[in-house]
Amino acid sequence: MMKFNILLAASEVVPFAKSGGLADVAGALPKALRAMGHDVRVVMPRYYIVDREKYKLTLRKGVLGVPMGTMGEAWAAVYEGVLPGSDVPVYFIEHEGFFGRKGLYDEDGFAYGDNDNRFIFFSKAVFQLAKMLRFRPDVIHANDWHTAAIPVLLNSTYAFDPDFEDTGTLLTLHNLQHQGRFYEGAMDVLGVGWEHFNSDELEEFGGINLLKGGIVHADAVNAVSRKYAHEIRTAEFGWGLEALIDANAYKLYGILNGVDYEEWSPAEDDYIPAHYDTSDFSGKAVCKRELQHEFGLPERDDVPLIGLVGRLAEQKGISLLAGAIWNLMEMDIQIVLLGTGEKWAEHFFSDVAEKYPEKFGCFIGYRNDLAHHIEAGSDFFLMPSLFEPCGLNQIYSLRYGTLPIVRATGGLDDTIENYDEKRGSGTGFKFEFATPEALTSTLRWAVGIWNEDPEAIEQLRLNGMNQRFDWSAAAEGYSALYCKIVGGRRSSRYQ
Ligand code: ADP
Ligand code: GLC
Repeated sequence: MMKFNILLAASEVVPFAKSGGLADVAGALPKALRAMGHDVRVVMPRYYIVDREKYKLTLRKGVLGVPMGTMGEAWAAVYEGVLPGSDVPVYFIEHEGFFGRKGLYDEDGFAYGDNDNRFIFFSKAVFQLAKMLRFRPDVIHANDWHTAAIPVLLNSTYAFDPDFEDTGTLLTLHNLQHQGRFYEGAMDVLGVGWEHFNSDELEEFGGINLLKGGIVHADAVNAVSRKYAHEIRTAEFGWGLEALIDANAYKLYGILNGVDYEEWSPAEDDYIPAHYDTSDFSGKAVCKRELQHEFGLPERDDVPLIGLVGRLAEQKGISLLAGAIWNLMEMDIQIVLLGTGEKWAEHFFSDVAEKYPEKFGCFIGYRNDLAHHIEAGSDFFLMPSLFEPCGLNQIYSLRYGTLPIVRATGGLDDTIENYDEKRGSGTGFKFEFATPEALTSTLRWAVGIWNEDPEAIEQLRLNGMNQRFDWSAAAEGYSALYCKIVGGRRSSRYQ
């Protein structure tokens, strides 16, 4: 197998800074690629929440000069560290003006007004960093809109730069909803020339759309599950880019994410009160009791406990849950919810918890330990997402013997097999329609089986716990894709 130089650029990376699954991927995929022998390096912004001491970051000699079009030249320092538990180098672009703030993208729910400049700056700094390191990437792997300018820059500003003559680009789409749409003035900062401001490249409704430019210019585009790769070619999931994506389908892939089983396994999870595995489930009952206790719910074994963890965003189907909740509260069930996000949802679900203290527990906030408690202590895990590019929690749930109840979309549909009563096969429960009624009736179905057929539940648990979604499989997929990109670039040079 060929070994490549890969420069992976992401706006968030576990454990340094995280707002969602993108950070999990950017922190785990490089390690799996490194294990395959690739020289992979990671670059991210040095937000001020990134703890320099904890991660032993060292300042590199020298500064990066980053041309910012009409803003002039911006200067950045570079910190260096490694992904913990590996020798994968991570470079942090340091710029007080752009990243010396509390949030990654926003503060108190308000997006920073200069996010265009911040991430155009970061995208350009990636090229300047490669030069500083004398690292000639075979592929620069960009992720989401924050780094989507990279493929555009490679094909324009850096098109004739000998340092990048063998370089190709991959753009992974973790979420198409956020596209980096800004006023056209951002073109002057991007500095690629106004000839690229047209409806086939960066222009959209008179403004600039960075993700659009990235999709057009990338050598390959990966959506994080097969189903999502299909869905984004349709109006329901394309957020206005469906026609463009459909036209670029020849270079569209759907490599599923992996999960980190060192962090998420009930047999060795440091956060949970008792361990368990497929040969002995007894620890799960202990975890359930503790979880009920933690949320002040009655400590009963004979009631099904349903967990939810995630951003309280429309994407996650919180409106469906809100619409279904009064009917659900009529049932003999318990629900625990952990999340932050939209204010209405935070207030609404806190209010439900006050009204039904025996049935509904709610923690508004971000807590990794509690996320682990919920995965381990719940009987079911609910993800009624309107769309879900991949989704990680349902995969963790499988490992914890916590049966996923999911809407059949994107990665949820690809990773969960619906329960088949006749054959006793499946790993969870799925519904198609994005309605509170569909959610309620599927949850009723699942709870009915839990009450009446414990053997079926046991079988479903085993089926799920025996599934594996390792990073090594995802890394194989990415590796093959890098190979295609490099081959494509080289052959196009000799045409
Ligand atoms: P997304 O990236 O769309 O938010 P994913 O399912 O891919 O969805 O990843 C979400 C990740 O963030 C998971 O690791 C999940 O456990 C974690 N997470 C989300 N919200 C919270 C929270 N409030 N507390 C702890 N962990 C959370
Ligand atoms: C996004 C998606 C989520 C996916 C994650 C990692 O945040 O919403 O479904 O798992 O990225 O790719």
